[in-house]
Amino acid sequence: MSETFDLIIRGGTCATPNGIAQGDVGVRNGKIAAIGDLGAASAPEVLDAKGLHVLPGVIDPQVHLREPGLEHKEDLATGTLGAVLGGVTAVLEMPNTKPGTTDAPALADKCRRAKDRVWCDIAFFVGASRENAEKLGELERLPGAAGVKIFMGSSTGSLLVPDDATLGRVLASGSRRVCIHCEDEDRLNERFSLVEGGAPVAMHAEWRDVETALRATRRILKLARGVNRRVHILHVTTEEEMALLPEYRDIATVEVLPQHLTLSAPEAYERLGTRAQMNPPIREGRHREALWRAIGQGLVDCIGSDHAPHTLEEKAKPYPQSPSGMTGVQTLVPIMLDHVNAGRLSLERFIDLTSAGPARVFGIVGKGRLALGYDADITIVDLKARRTITDQWIASRCGWTPYDGMEVTGWPTTTIVRGNIVMHDGQAIGDPQGTAVRFLEAL
Ligand code: DOR
Repeated sequence: MSETFDLIIRGGTCATPNGIAQGDVGVRNGKIAAIGDLGAASAPEVLDAKGLHVLPGVIDPQVHLREPGLEHKEDLATGTLGAVLGGVTAVLEMPNTKPGTTDAPALADKCRRAKDRVWCDIAFFVGASRENAEKLGELERLPGAAGVKIFMGSSTGSLLVPDDATLGRVLASGSRRVCIHCEDEDRLNERFSLVEGGAPVAMHAEWRDVETALRATRRILKLARGVNRRVHILHVTTEEEMALLPEYRDIATVEVLPQHLTLSAPEAYERLGTRAQMNPPIREGRHREALWRAIGQGLVDCIGSDHAPHTLEEKAKPYPQSPSGMTGVQTLVPIMLDHVNAGRLSLERFIDLTSAGPARVFGIVGKGRLALGYDADITIVDLKARRTITDQWIASRCGWTPYDGMEVTGWPTTTIVRGNIVMHDGQAIGDPQGTAVRFLEAL
């Protein structure tokens, strides 16, 4: 008798552990149960993937989903709906909600809210603060915790660890890799007068300049080296930081964002106004080129979207009262596939940065590869599809994207989370069934 599965994906070009090859994928009990030629095998559900690429599920390791407290911008349901419509199968969520995720009850509250409401798998970062520094070692091991996040410079919300003494206490507490937003708070305060009374939004990159990012990155790398703590430098934006990072590859991993690889100053500010405003900022072309070189040379470990929704009404405030951040979880895959088609990175490197990379950086259990026994998290893409990204397509409550009107080549067609088809041909399917991402160090 031939083998049976719950789901078979037939005839796609599959990113297998042995390379990219034609074949089938069999799914049973939410796990990958077979890869190869499945011949006469049968399943109640069969997806025809001829002409499509079958990739390990995309993990977005940096999203802000705003719940609790800022649900007029986004919530766990709308944010994760955007994720699966964009081909993302798991997200790691940031702690600058209201209240911030800085203690066990706040983390448990997020996990409770996620139940039966999230479309993809999820875990939550705990925000570091002066008050909770000594408790972080315990907090980072709680169910649903992705690890600890530090804001060295003020951004959206009030989470902040600006000084070396507190940073030292944070790094000494716990052992998992710590995520850092690197902008130097003292320099931000010193330079705020440049924009304080009102300024063109392009001044955002002048206020939060290269030195602001470099100084913070240098400080945290030195501190981390001193206590031998692993760190993850979020959204690196400058050529100068990239020059520093190779010396710290033993303890530091690196993230870049599609925005910083795609947009550049001054053009983005002229065309998009405050929609281009984010922290750290969109910078001139020489930095964008340096980020691409860093990708090509293996210095970048993963790509996150830093999905940071704000309403258009909020964005319409005059700069600098306008908030920083843009949506991104739904556009990460199409934008990066467009770069693959333009020859800026290979499909293999895309997979490394969006699946294997996040799994490796954070020690995610059973995700990030199409491999036997791994979760059947799968992103199926049509590398040849030409589509236009529009505000109307965006499921985020704030309903806009900096890429409105952009034509791209490469599009996600199906999103599968632990064997459940949750998006097909642009439609969400079934009910939200996301669950907690698991981590090696918290098992
Ligand atoms: O632009 C940003 N927006 N950068 C951040 O660090 C935070 C984010 C947000 O939460 O709005």
